[in-house]
Amino acid sequence: MTSKIKVLSASTAIAGSLMLFAGAATAQPQAEILHYWTSGGEAKAVQALKEDFESKGGKWIDAPVAGGGGDAQAAVLRSRVLSGNPPAAVQIKGPNIQEWAEAGALGDLTAVGEEQKWDEVLPPLLQDIVKHDGKYVAVPVNIHRVDWIWANPKALEQVGAEPPKTWDEFNAVAEKLKAAGIVPLAHGGQPWQDATVFETVALGLGGAEFFNGAFVGKDLDLVRSDKMKEIFDQMRKIRGYVDPDFPGRDWNLATGMVARGEAGMQIMGDWAKGEFVAAGLEPGKDFLCFPTPSNGGYILNSDSFAMFEVSGEDNEAGQKLLAELILGEDFQETFNLYKGSIPARLGVDRTNFDACAIRSMDDLKAASDSGELVGSVAHEIAAAGAIRGAVLDVVTEHFNSDMSSDDAVERLAEALELAE
Ligand code: BGC
Repeated sequence: MTSKIKVLSASTAIAGSLMLFAGAATAQPQAEILHYWTSGGEAKAVQALKEDFESKGGKWIDAPVAGGGGDAQAAVLRSRVLSGNPPAAVQIKGPNIQEWAEAGALGDLTAVGEEQKWDEVLPPLLQDIVKHDGKYVAVPVNIHRVDWIWANPKALEQVGAEPPKTWDEFNAVAEKLKAAGIVPLAHGGQPWQDATVFETVALGLGGAEFFNGAFVGKDLDLVRSDKMKEIFDQMRKIRGYVDPDFPGRDWNLATGMVARGEAGMQIMGDWAKGEFVAAGLEPGKDFLCFPTPSNGGYILNSDSFAMFEVSGEDNEAGQKLLAELILGEDFQETFNLYKGSIPARLGVDRTNFDACAIRSMDDLKAASDSGELVGSVAHEIAAAGAIRGAVLDVVTEHFNSDMSSDDAVERLAEALELAE
């Protein structure tokens, strides 16, 4: 448990395991839902959840916090819990779920999990994320893949480029686009977006063992290695492929640049597909998806809802209803088609999913079998809190200055050494 969470836990006196949902049978279900799904595709996905909830008699109180990647929402959540007024359901993930559970802030969803046989329908990988001390404390809604390139087919065709299979090939494609006056890489300069690009390069050039050793195990020999320098060298090249207006740009606006052909490519998780689809565009025709170069790797991100301690039978009934409907087969299909992700639940019919989603499903299985599957650092699956913060700070500082790769590696080693 981090010291921040310890303080939080003590100051709000929320320690202890909570039994939600007792006596919630007759009240009208209601829930305030804190989330950061505010872009076009995200809003459609969250609307599907809202409609399902309302069709089953629930009263939905929407609490959106704009800001991709969820950093703005995390601050709101902390202050809401500290003031003793947490939202009923919150979109959180990875180690954050474990930390909030350790602080005693989360309800126990095990009864719903047993009723709905979550042990059978959830892949063990996701069970590990949403279980704490053997109890379900959150419910996963999807699996997002982070290591994708979204490309404009006309732009690639114009310069005679094929999807790159190595980072050298990526650089060659980018140079061709640049020479043709097309922005090679649509990017938004926000720390989490810089880190999203960085982790795809790190997995691509370093492989899963290196990735986990450096960013999860904090192996400082790996952090100070020539491999890490090579990764920062590639980031420096990428810096030359973004347009001058990139600082602060939201990720979905960068996706729009690819959709309109102003930019050739974007490196972003498959929530970007939700944007293309919301704009009525079709994969394979209007936009292309292919993995960032790696040795069969896959960077996993998964969104979940955790239920926080709230009082009142109506709130408890709302939390129970939400937990029940999120893993339903129909809902899993509808939601993930809008969101760009693939179902969290095993065995959902693939028929209505597009080629990008099918590729994600197949590549996930292959990467899991070959050991090249990693959890995202930028998106708080493999690491959260201080480790993620150290990576984001150094990567962003490097990207936005003329810092050398040697200096960046040293800064990263120092920051990770201090990170708890
Ligand atoms: C979340 C996605 C979200 C994206 C952009 C990611 O960290 O997992 O659900 O769409 O950030 O906000």
